[in-house]
Amino acid sequence: MTRPVPPVSPARVHAELLGGDSASPLDSAVVRRVTELAPWWPAAAWELHRDGLRLVAHLAAQGLDQFLDLGSGLPSPGRRQVHGLATAYSTSRHAARTVYVDRDPHAHVGRRISLADRTDAISVHADITDTEALLEHPAVQELDPQRPFVVLLHDVLHWMPGKAAAHLVADLRRRLPPGSLISFTHLLPAPPPYATTPLVRAYCEAGIGLSPRDLSVISAWSGSWPTYTNGPHTGAGLVPVCASLLRTPGPGPFSRPAFWSSSRCQVPRSTPSTR
Ligand SMILES: C[S@@+](CC[C@H](N)C(=O)[O-])C[C@H]1O[C@@H](n2cnc3c(N)ncnc32)[C@H](O)[C@@H]1O
Repeated sequence: MTRPVPPVSPARVHAELLGGDSASPLDSAVVRRVTELAPWWPAAAWELHRDGLRLVAHLAAQGLDQFLDLGSGLPSPGRRQVHGLATAYSTSRHAARTVYVDRDPHAHVGRRISLADRTDAISVHADITDTEALLEHPAVQELDPQRPFVVLLHDVLHWMPGKAAAHLVADLRRRLPPGSLISFTHLLPAPPPYATTPLVRAYCEAGIGLSPRDLSVISAWSGSWPTYTNGPHTGAGLVPVCASLLRTPGPGPFSRPAFWSSSRCQVPRSTPSTR
């Protein structure tokens, strides 16, 4: 009897790109093809991941203590994780709490096993595009809705169709408690030497959709929320990636992460009643 071939797991491909082991030769073949067609991408993916973690430390040091890591992927063994940084850098009088969410069963189970002895984090298996169900999940309900959430969408939105990504950010803006922040990173279309067309092709051959989008499209997702945008580049150099940090409109300081050297704040002129 032949065993069914497991489908490619985007989460495992990503974990291997970040230097982890792969559980499937099929995933490794995708990593090889991606690296062949877009040799700049593994370093960029790593820098994106690392910059996301730096931002978590920055926000925890600002007193934010409730983190929702959407599309969290597999834990990288031996490396810092969101919950570890949220707890280590916390200046809050409340204990920091992280909820990891991924629809990939490998990511969810891997994360759950890695958190077995932790009380400051939990793994949830869910599709993040159903925000209503997500925010009603018992693990999310345990967060305090009177205090802000930090929603992380790091290296996630460009793997979704445009409508789903825009709807997800808009829905989060409507539903999150006052003072909440959304942090996301996104790939932009670019010519050589960081050409995105071959990168998209390599993933497409494996049945994985990847959509670099123009900054104008991504910026529109902020709606009426003041936003800092960093990029288009990361610490890896001029790679075509931008990071955005948006927060509910309202009084109170909103500080730019100091390590975002090129960031600029875009504050909408009018503040419509919808958040
Ligand atoms: C490239 S990984 C990013 C991992 C991590 N956020 C990081 O910064 O390294 C993208 C992850 O998003 C997850 N993902 C994509 N679409 C999703 C959805 N609709 N619901 C839940 N997870 C999703 C994938 O399963 C994958 O684990």
